[in-house]
Amino acid sequence: MPRTPVSEARKPERIGQQTLIQGWVRTRRDSKAGFSFLEINDGSCMANLQVIVDGSLPNYETEVKRLTAGCSVSVHGQIKPSSGKGQATELLAETVQVHGWADPESYPLQKKRHSFEKLREWAHLRPRTNTFGAVARVRNCVCQSIHQFFQQRGFLYIHTPIITASDCEGAGEMFRVTTLDLENVPRQQGTVDYSMDFFDRPSYLTVSGQLEAEIFATALGNVYTFGPTFRAENSNTSRHLAEFWMIEPEMAFYELTDNMDLAEQFLKQICRDVLERCGEDMQFFHDRIDNTVLATLDSIVQHQFIRLPYTDAVEILQRSGQTFEFPVAWGSDLQSEHERYLTEQHFQRPVVLYDYPRVIKPFYMRVNDDGRTVRAMDVLVPKVGEIIGGSQREERLEMLEQRMVEQDLRPDDYWWYLDLRRFGTVPHAGFGLGLERMLQFITGMANIRDVIPFPRTPGSAEF
Ligand code: 4AD
Ligand code: MG
Repeated sequence: MPRTPVSEARKPERIGQQTLIQGWVRTRRDSKAGFSFLEINDGSCMANLQVIVDGSLPNYETEVKRLTAGCSVSVHGQIKPSSGKGQATELLAETVQVHGWADPESYPLQKKRHSFEKLREWAHLRPRTNTFGAVARVRNCVCQSIHQFFQQRGFLYIHTPIITASDCEGAGEMFRVTTLDLENVPRQQGTVDYSMDFFDRPSYLTVSGQLEAEIFATALGNVYTFGPTFRAENSNTSRHLAEFWMIEPEMAFYELTDNMDLAEQFLKQICRDVLERCGEDMQFFHDRIDNTVLATLDSIVQHQFIRLPYTDAVEILQRSGQTFEFPVAWGSDLQSEHERYLTEQHFQRPVVLYDYPRVIKPFYMRVNDDGRTVRAMDVLVPKVGEIIGGSQREERLEMLEQRMVEQDLRPDDYWWYLDLRRFGTVPHAGFGLGLERMLQFITGMANIRDVIPFPRTPGSAEF
């Protein structure tokens, strides 16, 4: 008999059916009347299935009454209507087979609730908790929604390389990839001899698939990437990972406002899908993690995002009367305290900031006619701050070369990127959404390490 997920077995239309469920015991309670209740979870949904095991089963005394949290079982029996609170059905066991025991003396996930910090030390067990099960299901739903959004619009899913020789963001925060012997690095005239290295040149893990996505957008129109990206920035914050997933659409013939429109529709669609498909998990986040998450998602779907030039934002911040740790001045990057003031207090909704100073943004962003600003856009949301970064791209060859020189990059290293401007250049634009920041925003989880299965942060890569 095939396994029925608990999510199915809980449905009233299953009543009367012979069913096999397989999962892990959450609790066992014994009744004085000679039978036991098991709560079984199999990850298919937040809720457990209640199983009634009668004392007449042959292994009742020897096995069933020794079951504790974490034991794995197969239970076969008939689905009955349940009079219990919060459940329409329960399973009346005819057989209970124990697959694996979990010694209550040493199994860490007993009844006691553990902090998220503690659970990070048990990354191999935390998916068995309600919170991390819910995060995994919502993460899956968001990924599905993302692909659906682009596929329905005819975007091509492009796989860009993970190993690369170019620094897209020009921020020098790249992890090196090498097969050189670190104990004995080959040198020539004092510098490392990369001709001895695997790729014949310095190579890194990518910080963004954008440059390669541009190659495909300027051939095929609308494309997107969705993959892991790596940043060696040594920032131990609740919003930074060294390895995170990014979604990067890139569209030929798009200008900045088209880019903003797409980004807004995109975020709204994800929120709509999560509300529609993850009701039970979202209710859990609302009840147990952050009681504003449901209202926030509703409000995202319903209200237009604010669109505001960087220069106006600086003015609002300067006039706010707030004392910020970092004072605001035109020309400096906004800190998360500034982003949060704008989204949480001043506007109380997402803000798309655009036209940032040229000096603080990467070389590929299109320079405005004022010469001082570039066609950048960041989407900021309450609690998380920057969730999307993007821009219209510089499609003019000479300006692009000038921008590279300005930022100490060698145009020769980017000859292929410049070729896109040499041959049939077009206005184009794109953006990057950080998947984990989006998940933080949706679930209300305070630390980004708790919305990715295996967080990579400075000093931490065990699991
Ligand atoms: O603003 P960023 O650096 O933009 C780019 O990489 C562009 N190449 C994207 C593009 O235009 N195609 O990063 C984009 C987003 C940020 O807004 C943030 O959500 C996320 O990626 N992000 C991080 N998420 C977790 N940990 C980090 N260290 C992150 N750095 C950026
Ligand atoms: Mg950014």
